[in-house]
Amino acid sequence: MKRIGMLTSGGDCQALNAAMRGVVKGLNANLDELEIYGFYDGYKGLIYGNYRLLTSKDFSGILTKGGTILGTSRQPFKYMRVPDENGLDKVAAMKHTYHKLNLDCLVILGGNGTQKTANLLREEGLNIIHLPKTIDNDIYGTDITFGFESALDIATGVIDCIHTTAASHNRVFIVEIMGHKVGWLPLHAGVAGGADIILIPEIPYDIDKVVEAINKRSKDGKGFTILAVAEGAISKEDAQLSKKELKAKKKETKYPSVSYEVAAQIQERTGNEVRVTVPGHMQRGGSPCAYDRVLCTQLGAHAAKLILDEDYGYMVGMINGQTKKVPLGEVAGKLKMVQPDCQLIKEAKIVGICFGD
Ligand code: F6P
Repeated sequence: MKRIGMLTSGGDCQALNAAMRGVVKGLNANLDELEIYGFYDGYKGLIYGNYRLLTSKDFSGILTKGGTILGTSRQPFKYMRVPDENGLDKVAAMKHTYHKLNLDCLVILGGNGTQKTANLLREEGLNIIHLPKTIDNDIYGTDITFGFESALDIATGVIDCIHTTAASHNRVFIVEIMGHKVGWLPLHAGVAGGADIILIPEIPYDIDKVVEAINKRSKDGKGFTILAVAEGAISKEDAQLSKKELKAKKKETKYPSVSYEVAAQIQERTGNEVRVTVPGHMQRGGSPCAYDRVLCTQLGAHAAKLILDEDYGYMVGMINGQTKKVPLGEVAGKLKMVQPDCQLIKEAKIVGICFGD
């Protein structure tokens, strides 16, 4: 008999259900008795003891279903050691729930913040398996996270649609792609969608270079330009500011996001009409793509094997096409960023894509 707890935490994405299904199928096929406790709304469910006993039936037919059947919420890591408004010690409460249910292990699906809390619980003596979820693809220790490829299809589709209207109107279009700290999604969507300019947080941009690239296209007889701009794109000047100064500047700005600021600067300097499209949370919605379904089935199967072997304290990642167990303590708190001199960026530059640097 195995008693497994499961929760999904942080921003949702496609394939969370597919990953949970993979784990449960892997266990169910190899065990006579299995109890699965699903905690609602991420760590909240574990803290406040809000859970439901699930059966393998609950995980049937959810491979293609977006979102998460368990619900999710953001519970920032930095507040985990801070008591709640009623003075409750959250870490102690999570441990209490775990021990009360006599769990063999907790399977935690989430991104960077979630992973840090998962590691904290491991340090507190709980048996943890983490599965790397995020459309941002920024989890250290795995080549790819689930959600990324599905979101990439959506973001690319948006740029594709913008292409036809941009060309008809001879306009400059900005598509703002999710990614506050890292630019994997805007980089890949920009290349896949044929964007002419890609701005990502890892490469602070110079607006003069952006304008230069647009003017060059006009001179070459290309009437429209498409920019894929990360939510977290940052100008060279702003990159020099301290965290505090940047926060103060953002408070003052009249622009809803960086794309609108870039749009205003381009319009002013080139006289071109500029339009901004923000697909936002659409990028996290809908069914997982085929790639993510395969990935999650593999990650889930590997996680099930670790649980059967009672080998805990790992994230299951995908490295060079192989699923691998990666010690949580080695990866928690690290961010996988785009390297500005990586091959993809070098080659994108060869084909004329401007990164504003
Ligand atoms: O971490 C995933 C992500 O979608 C980021 O790309 C984005 O910046 C953020 O979450 C949005 O968060 P929220 O759903 O809390 O608005």
